[in-house]
Amino acid sequence: MEWCIIVDVNFVFGGILEMSYKLAIIGFGGMGNYHFDQIKERIPEIEVVGVFDVRQERLDYAKESGLKAYTSVDELIADKEVQIVLISTPNDFHAPLSIKCMRGGKNVVCEKPVTMNAPELEEVLKVSKETGKVFVVHQNRRWDKDYVIIKNILDNKLLGRAFYVENRVQGSKRSLEGWRGFKLNGGGMVYDWGIHLIDQTMWLIKSPVVDVQGHLARMFSTEVDDNFKAFLKFEDGTSALIEVSTNCFIPQARWHMMCEDGTAIVEDWECNGKMVRLSDDRDLGWEDQIVYTVAGPTRTMAPRPRETTEELSLPEVKSDWADYYKNVIAAIEGREELIVKPAESLRVMKVVDAIFESDKTGHSVACHI
Ligand SMILES: NC(=O)c1ccc[n+]([C@@H]2O[C@H](COP(=O)([O-])OP(=O)(O)OC[C@H]3O[C@@H](n4cnc5c(N)ncnc54)[C@H](O)[C@@H]3O)[C@@H](O)[C@H]2O)c1
Repeated sequence: MEWCIIVDVNFVFGGILEMSYKLAIIGFGGMGNYHFDQIKERIPEIEVVGVFDVRQERLDYAKESGLKAYTSVDELIADKEVQIVLISTPNDFHAPLSIKCMRGGKNVVCEKPVTMNAPELEEVLKVSKETGKVFVVHQNRRWDKDYVIIKNILDNKLLGRAFYVENRVQGSKRSLEGWRGFKLNGGGMVYDWGIHLIDQTMWLIKSPVVDVQGHLARMFSTEVDDNFKAFLKFEDGTSALIEVSTNCFIPQARWHMMCEDGTAIVEDWECNGKMVRLSDDRDLGWEDQIVYTVAGPTRTMAPRPRETTEELSLPEVKSDWADYYKNVIAAIEGREELIVKPAESLRVMKVVDAIFESDKTGHSVACHI
């Protein structure tokens, strides 16, 4: 009789064995460094092992940080231990590098904006399908607390259906740093912050976009938009205003959302704000109320009697950016679908294309995205 000994490796190593994924970074500037620090601190399942950057000083810094410094993308791809590549270069390199890395057998996490336009992304997604490699965009702003609050209000119908959402970020720095000022590199605010706000809005309102208007301004940049507003109309009747300013000296609320039964406001990234909900819809003496402005009366804009509404705190929410990478790993292992789905990224890029087209033609773009 033959004996066979079955060894439980989890038991031998005293617990659940966790696979450690090796990740390499292409483009080790501000954001590449952020990923490196955050992964080291917060994602034990991933180890950053190496870096490629076109600047020698960043390669030197990588070495000082205990990382391999590859001298080319080919050398990085040839490193068999690397399973995931993070691409955090200026935007115009995202598509060619993603394609090269996936063809080289790597899964890819790509910074936003994923590509310069939708057709380019379609090419990238084709390669992901062909190679079977996971390709995902780092739309990290889906985990920002201000957004999670707004999504919570809508998903849980705390104020009923939204009909108008304003999603904006406003600053007054009046400058775009480095490559962000160049058209060739995919600079400008539509690509930079706009893409986050568009992605957030389209993940919030689950309906096709049927009309897009873009109003871009070049206040101090000679090549790219440094301020913009975009209006999206959705098939279900919801409208959204998306705004990014770098020349605004009196900022408005981060979010203002009007719903059937109330209004929500999130003032800032600290998530100050409130909801006001209709509590009594009966006609409580509105008839006699008229407001007189300097030049005339208005009945429509008379203030609502206070007792007919209630003021509520914003909902408490939990959000952890680490869940982004945990989901990427689960997708690589085939355990979960990606949270940031490639098809969603493609819809976002199509809206970006429509914003540029609308600005160029001066007309809104009818669509079904
Ligand atoms: N998701 C977010 O919250 C967030 C925030 C900031 C930036 N980003 C994105 O990250 C990317 C990088 O932005 P950043 O602020 O780190 O810019 P950065 O200029 O600080 O860093 C870019 C780095 O890429 C290197 N580089 C340039 N061309 C390269 C190439 N062909 N191959 C290899 N390296 C190259 C540069 O030398 C530099 O070190 C952009 O796509 C940007 O939109 C995302």
